[in-house]
Amino acid sequence: MDIEKTLAALTLPEKAALVSGKDNWYTAKIDRLNIPALMMTDGPSGLRKQTSTTNDINNSVKAITYPAAALSASSWNTDLFHQLGEHLGVEARAEQVNILLGPGVNMKRSPLGGRNFEYLSEDPLVAGKLGTAYVQGVQSKGVGVSVKHFAANNRENQRFTSSSDMSQRTLRELYLKAFEIIVKNALPETLMVSYNRINGVLNSQNHYLLRDILRDEWGFHGAVMSDWGAVANHAAALSAGLDLEMPGKGQPSVDEIVKAIETGELDEGTLNKSVRHLLHLIQNCPTNPHPKAYDHEAHHAFARKMADDSIVLLKNHQNELPLTPKNQGKLVIVGELAKHPRFQGSGSSHVNPTKLVTPLDALADSGLSADYQQGYTLDDSETDDQLASDAIAAAKQADHVIVFAGYPEKEESEGFDKSAILLPENQTELIGQLTKVNTHITVVLQNGSVVEMPWVKNVAAIVETYLAGEAVGEATWDIITGKVNPSGHLAETFPLKLADTPMAPTFGQDPHHENYSEGIFMGYRYYDTHEMRVLFPFGHGLSYTTFEYGNLVTKSDAHGATITFDVTNTGDQAGKAVPQLYVANHASHAPMPTKELRGFTKLSIDPGETKSVTFHLNRRDFSWWRERVHRWQADTGDYEVMIGESSHDIRVQSKLTMDFENAPAPVTLETYLAKVVTEPRLRGLFQRTVVAPLLQPDVPQNLFSETDADHQPLLFQSRMYLNMPLRALVALGTPAKPLNDFIQAANQSR
Ligand code: BGC
Repeated sequence: MDIEKTLAALTLPEKAALVSGKDNWYTAKIDRLNIPALMMTDGPSGLRKQTSTTNDINNSVKAITYPAAALSASSWNTDLFHQLGEHLGVEARAEQVNILLGPGVNMKRSPLGGRNFEYLSEDPLVAGKLGTAYVQGVQSKGVGVSVKHFAANNRENQRFTSSSDMSQRTLRELYLKAFEIIVKNALPETLMVSYNRINGVLNSQNHYLLRDILRDEWGFHGAVMSDWGAVANHAAALSAGLDLEMPGKGQPSVDEIVKAIETGELDEGTLNKSVRHLLHLIQNCPTNPHPKAYDHEAHHAFARKMADDSIVLLKNHQNELPLTPKNQGKLVIVGELAKHPRFQGSGSSHVNPTKLVTPLDALADSGLSADYQQGYTLDDSETDDQLASDAIAAAKQADHVIVFAGYPEKEESEGFDKSAILLPENQTELIGQLTKVNTHITVVLQNGSVVEMPWVKNVAAIVETYLAGEAVGEATWDIITGKVNPSGHLAETFPLKLADTPMAPTFGQDPHHENYSEGIFMGYRYYDTHEMRVLFPFGHGLSYTTFEYGNLVTKSDAHGATITFDVTNTGDQAGKAVPQLYVANHASHAPMPTKELRGFTKLSIDPGETKSVTFHLNRRDFSWWRERVHRWQADTGDYEVMIGESSHDIRVQSKLTMDFENAPAPVTLETYLAKVVTEPRLRGLFQRTVVAPLLQPDVPQNLFSETDADHQPLLFQSRMYLNMPLRALVALGTPAKPLNDFIQAANQSR
């Protein structure tokens, strides 16, 4: 298509139709000019292609249900995320879907956030790198993505109106960063603007967000669409930088745009820009003319592989796991979730699975044999005495017990936030009772995000499977039996209790404003800086083997640093390590977390084998957002590099001194005398332009008259005077002229 010719041929109502979705899932088509409609489909962890145009969330074609983002992000595996994207891309092509609505890359700010299961991490680098790989994978198949929800959509209650209020530094360093990484590295076809406001401005009408930052600073060339129903004023949204309103209100959407152009409320040049973005999108994401069915079995196997690589072994006291047919003894499985698992989130990412394999279904193939006790009812939080006492009686006789516990679906969904993070009372109580009769208890968790674990010390093992997708049963036994060596690591911190989270007193309290008063101290950045104990730290995950780290070497220049180290598998079986690189900034005067993740990788290592890892850090990796000058700043000085298996488990570390070329700050009347005296060049200039004339015999007594044996003013040794700006010297009688001459000369040569 010749975009400019097509644009010129479109009538105003046709252009208005193009920037307004035709219905829930399609853009408008213009037959006269052969402009086809685009079809969009949720969502991040599987296709939710609806056959009707209504938004009936649970009515969609059968599709592979991959692990929800909360689990898949725990893989820390960018290669696997690329493959996940490819699988989704192939499925979208087969279903003639043009745009996949995902991935969701917002930060998990509070454990109460209703959408945490659908988001990747509390750290923007993890979300940014995994999101980049996913987008590249999907788009490599000719299908576009919509990275969502741009931006700072970290709470669900009042999500259509509430304002995420935060400093510019917090916005840049945490809440925009994952989007920035993805936009710059993966060139996504579209971005989805979230419902909320930022600092009072509705995101869909936020010129600063949609044009100044997204397009002018980051160079985004794709199309910007709204979340479903996020547009309050279509003309104002188009003026601010939105391209497509979804789902569109039909003819009223077209009429309002035509009217806005006629009244001058909207500029036609601005409308044309949006139409141009949509025509490019239509050109870049063509419908597959010859859809071929994909191999459901192979894609199901990939869903299992993804879960295998992501499930996190949180605790394994005295090698309770793995359990094998040889060592299982008498095994009892407890919990309704073993039979009716939670394997996906609800809301728009709900998928109609092709082949759900429950833990009980998959038990026989795992080689284990066990009795099953329901133990509790999932729909109820009250203890059912009969179910509980049957489970306890069975556990008394058992050598090992595996309890499946988790959240009921109705309490974890898009569209509302949680109010607590404890498991339902009947499950908490049952686990407590079981630990009194058996010390070999393994808890398998199925949940969308962080839970409190009052029983943590009394159970032998904990396996976090989050929402593991349709292969939940197979993957759970792969880990428990050791068929797969666990290698998942938490992409979020598990605090001891909800009250420990920095935003606990305020989260969701004000219907209109969410105050991000913790600033950049969110997640591990908060707990680690305050040296708080947590249940499980960010990055934590156990393996059935052990890894040792050594030979840390750092090199740096004015552009960045290279960090190299070795990882050795010191156990007796193959495993995958997730080395994490954290950097502590001791150079800047701004408040800094004690450490921040700046790199990670995942590598398979055989027993006895050593692998070398190299991370490259660039200037931006050392930078912070300096609000006063509105730019990233990297400071010269000392840093600390730490390599660990979690934010708490640092194995090797080393100091690093960086020397960045920064334009020196200008000298002004606000510059302190201490700065002038300690910088040799400024001191010499000051001596010549200010001190020398004031020491002339004909000049009356002044602040500089008293000198030491080297003819240096005694003032230079006074801590009180050194702690004064130049303007204070004027106030104390120093003539302004030589000081102004000094300032001028100092800035000329800088
Ligand atoms: C959700 C989006 C989703 C859209 C379409 C909205 O409610 O916030 O994530 O893509 O619905 O289903």
